[in-house]
Amino acid sequence: MSNNPYLPFRAPILSKTRQTAVDWTYHIGCSLNPVPGQFVEVSLPGVGECPISISDFTPDSVELTIRRVGKVTENLSRLEEADYLYLRGPYGQGFPLEQFAGRHLIIAAGGTGLAPVKSVIRHFAERPETLAGLTILAGFKSPEDILFRPELESWSRSFDVQVTVDQVCDVPVPSPGHVGLITALIPDLAIPSPTNTRAIVVGPPAMMKFTCAELLRRGLKEDQIWVSLERRMSCGLGKCGHCRVGSTHVCLDGPVFNYAKARKLVD
Ligand SMILES: Cc1cc2nc3c(=O)[nH]c(=O)nc-3n(C[C@H](O)[C@H](O)[C@H](O)COP(=O)(O)OP(=O)(O)OC[C@H]3O[C@@H](n4cnc5c(N)ncnc54)[C@H](O)[C@@H]3O)c2cc1C
Ligand code: FES
Repeated sequence: MSNNPYLPFRAPILSKTRQTAVDWTYHIGCSLNPVPGQFVEVSLPGVGECPISISDFTPDSVELTIRRVGKVTENLSRLEEADYLYLRGPYGQGFPLEQFAGRHLIIAAGGTGLAPVKSVIRHFAERPETLAGLTILAGFKSPEDILFRPELESWSRSFDVQVTVDQVCDVPVPSPGHVGLITALIPDLAIPSPTNTRAIVVGPPAMMKFTCAELLRRGLKEDQIWVSLERRMSCGLGKCGHCRVGSTHVCLDGPVFNYAKARKLVD
């Protein structure tokens, strides 16, 4: 395997797990040692390439959770265990884990936004004593869209985990389940000390905007919140300019940004 971050390398799919009708989680055999929140460029020869967040990792593998939306992801969804794909990376800036030590951390994730924060949660699940507390808010369109059900179940044994769905159906929501937008959970959250609280908000643009607004209303300052931005990308390396907003390259300077900066990029 190449250590050159510019060069795609071939890697085997060790396992593939269905999450929903359109999302699959892949374990890929490779040693990338990423920072939680970084992404890779995933490609298939003759098809194309796309940026995908690393949803978790071990010393010998990375986990990717991929939603089938178009050409590349459709072709990726047809791959099975023992097939190969191509990767380059890891790229971008991840979450500043050291800034969360000793704090109460609120993680609010909408839909596939749970993927880039999953390894942050795993990091603190392995070291719960390093946080003052962890609250996880996860929002999905419907119970059929819930990702990482076993993990949500397991995290809820140690942390305050609240799952909410926009609309109900016959499929159950992990307890304590809510119906409504994630923003509706924030006014009632226990936030013992806003100054000692930090937050991560990842999801669709509107969800991030209104969730951050609710957190600011609860007394957090902009620089106590981090977000991860998804822009259309091509090179992933700060060369092509596809992801540029002003002088900022989302692929290079992000995708994780402090909200004090991100607000100026997205508003
Ligand atoms: C930093 C980063 C991390 C990402 N992480 C993940 C991840 O963990 N899992 C995952 O499933 N997807 C992730 N994405 C989105 C993923 O890159 C796109 O879904 C993928 O590029 C679509 O490629 P395609 O050829 O299958 O679809 P296309 O045929 O290119 O597009 C299909 C549809 O998806 C829309 N689309 C494509 N790219 C984006 C984008 N970046 N943002 C919003 N809409 C888009 C298009 O407008 C179109 O409507 C991430 C994107 C970025 C920038
Ligand atoms: S994707 Fe090319 S500069 Fe960011």
